[in-house]
Amino acid sequence: MTDALADRGRYQRHLRNFRYLVDGTSTGVAALVVLVALVATVVLVVTLPLLPKVARLVRALATTERRRTGRYLGFPIPNPPPSAGRSPRELLTDPGLRRDVVWLSLHAVVGTMAGAVAISSPLGAVQNVIIAMIWPLVPNLVSTINTPVTSWPQAGLTLLIAAGYAAIGPLVVPPLAHWYLHVNASRLAPPKTSLVQRLADVMATRAAVVDANDRELQRIERDLHDGTQNRLVAVVMHLGMAERALRRDPASALPLMLTAQNAAVDALAELRGVVRGIYPPVLADRGLADAVAGLANHSTLPCRVDIGPLPRLPGPVAAAAYFALAEALTNTAKHSGARQVTVRLFVEGDWLVLQVDDDGHGGADEEQGSGLVGIRRRVSALDGTMDLHSPPGGPTVLRVCIPTGE
Ligand SMILES: Nc1ncnc2c1ncn2[C@@H]1O[C@H](COP(=O)(O)OP(=O)(O)O)[C@@H](O)[C@H]1O
Ligand SMILES: [Mg+2]
Repeated sequence: MTDALADRGRYQRHLRNFRYLVDGTSTGVAALVVLVALVATVVLVVTLPLLPKVARLVRALATTERRRTGRYLGFPIPNPPPSAGRSPRELLTDPGLRRDVVWLSLHAVVGTMAGAVAISSPLGAVQNVIIAMIWPLVPNLVSTINTPVTSWPQAGLTLLIAAGYAAIGPLVVPPLAHWYLHVNASRLAPPKTSLVQRLADVMATRAAVVDANDRELQRIERDLHDGTQNRLVAVVMHLGMAERALRRDPASALPLMLTAQNAAVDALAELRGVVRGIYPPVLADRGLADAVAGLANHSTLPCRVDIGPLPRLPGPVAAAAYFALAEALTNTAKHSGARQVTVRLFVEGDWLVLQVDDDGHGGADEEQGSGLVGIRRRVSALDGTMDLHSPPGGPTVLRVCIPTGE
């Protein structure tokens, strides 16, 4: 019984290794095609404007392979944030894309070949068995390794060759799959130095998140205590006075009741403000796309909005993007001197990307205030990134990428 179970486990592992290599053939061939397209685009020069499109193909293929390899490894391989560069020159120097291209070259050659080796085992076995059976019907037959099959002894030899092919599978495929899984993963994963850096970042942001949560709780407590609670105390007080006035002189109770009503309305407004600061109700009611369009419409500067199709996003991701845009639009109105702002919001791979461009005089500096630092803290707590490009003289580009958490 246990032997049968062990056999089944071994068989399933073998099948899994085999599938990893065989499925890798299709992505390997795709990698070869994309690699040829990439080289042609760069070498032909006139085709360079097509580079962003080809770069997107490279990234899409690498993303697919990261998901696939992550499934076999048992843990996900993170995708690098989408490249901020748009021009061919920026793209050619983008480290993320360069890394993807190194992987592409490896997978196009080694991935395809490893897959071919895995496929050749069952294919060679079946082919040789068929040859050994049909030799009397077909003249001048040869086996897959070119030995003639024109007699029964030669047919017997062909069956042995078939057995050899069948043996290659269990002998060669597992170590080959194990080796290639790790080589492939190491090319697809972020480089080691960036992992060390990332660990340091994670430790720093973890401390920042704990700190920010603590401060946020204190702020909410203070807002509730100083604002809402005070107003409610006033409501209770005025209602008490109105009650006493009603007993003495009902006519004098009316102004007190109106004051109590006003205090209740104020308390409600305060409470709404506190709730809005925690999670904007517009996000819950209408979703991020509408909330972003609403923010842009209320911007004091003319604002162009380009929102791509968005999947359902986790609350903290949508809230971080919303607060980042609110701060970015306030900054453009307050500091930039811009005449036009463009807001882009889209999903690329596993990332939600928010980009705010303004044509103002630039010079944004996160060390000079708390808003931009706040955005960085908030998005890095979600493993996101913030890039600010704002040379003196402008223009300013703020780009926030947050994992969609799919
Ligand atoms: N879009 C922008 N254009 C020009 N300067 C900017 C822009 N955004 C921010 N800044 C500059 O960067 C500084 C830091 O911004 P921020 O961290 O949001 O702080 P705050 O808005 O509270 O001053 C601002 O004081 C401003 O001088
Ligand atoms: Mg600001």
